[in-house]
Amino acid sequence: MSKTLTGKTALVTGASRGLGRAIAERLGRDGALVAVHYGKSREEADGVVTRIKTAGGDAFAVQAEIGSVESIGAMFATLDTELTQRTGAAHLDILVNNAGVAPNIPMEETDEDTFDRLFDVNVKGLFFVTKQAVSRLRDGGRIVNISSGLSRAAGGMDIPAYSATKGAVDVLTRQWATKYGARGITVNSLAPGAIDTDMNAQWLRANPEAKAAIEAAQALKRVGQPEDIGDAVSFLAGPDSRWVTGQYIEASGGWHL
Ligand SMILES: NC(=O)c1ccc[n+]([C@@H]2O[C@H](COP(=O)([O-])OP(=O)(O)OC[C@H]3O[C@@H](n4cnc5c(N)ncnc54)[C@H](OP(=O)(O)O)[C@@H]3O)[C@@H](O)[C@H]2O)c1
Repeated sequence: MSKTLTGKTALVTGASRGLGRAIAERLGRDGALVAVHYGKSREEADGVVTRIKTAGGDAFAVQAEIGSVESIGAMFATLDTELTQRTGAAHLDILVNNAGVAPNIPMEETDEDTFDRLFDVNVKGLFFVTKQAVSRLRDGGRIVNISSGLSRAAGGMDIPAYSATKGAVDVLTRQWATKYGARGITVNSLAPGAIDTDMNAQWLRANPEAKAAIEAAQALKRVGQPEDIGDAVSFLAGPDSRWVTGQYIEASGGWHL
């Protein structure tokens, strides 16, 4: 595998588990110095750092509650110190906004607290992480926002509040692509379909009928794996995607085409 990201620095939010872990490990294999963000799962984040280093890369962990602007600010102070120690400057090249929550709650059962929590983490947190990151991003940088196939189609799923957070993410992708394009910074939404992570453990992993329904709804007849997303993000974070910006790109195995 060619090290297309040698000399680059990356921050991946929600990298302790699931898709973020696969993304961080892939960017580490591509040669980037990776800041592995976690919220509560410190041990898991340390494990990701160890795996990246064992594979010949470099990484460190940073913590923040993504629903809190204050906590995000503290994380960037730590990030600056860690990056400066390792590279001599607090520059970032790649931001992957991946941290998110997805309670599997239908319209009728969605209360105010659940709605607010979804927008606090998935939209407000992503917004303020990006606000901090753009001043540190070098020209030619990359922002990848993890969206969802649910922002394009309901596909028989009934989780409208979560889906709406990802619609907001796609709007921010286009806004930021326009605003930062003059600096050569690309901004794209990468939208997974159903992937086998903790987020889907209850309704998908433990439920053969749901798994069969997902497989039937996809052109490629299998449930997605975190590495399917890590590899797609590698393209959007790398040099070969330089002419791709402001786009919604689905990595869903062809879900509800
Ligand atoms: N899995 C899918 O099928 C799927 C499909 C479409 C889109 N997505 C999107 O992909 C992203 C990752 O999903 P996933 O399946 O990998 O989820 P996951 O396995 O539940 O992992 C979520 C990650 O986000 C972090 N996180 C969650 N809430 C946080 C908070 N308030 N503050 C800080 N960190 C927080 C977690 O960190 P800690 O454990 O350290 O707290 C963890 O690293 C999400 O944006 C999700 O909406 C997933």
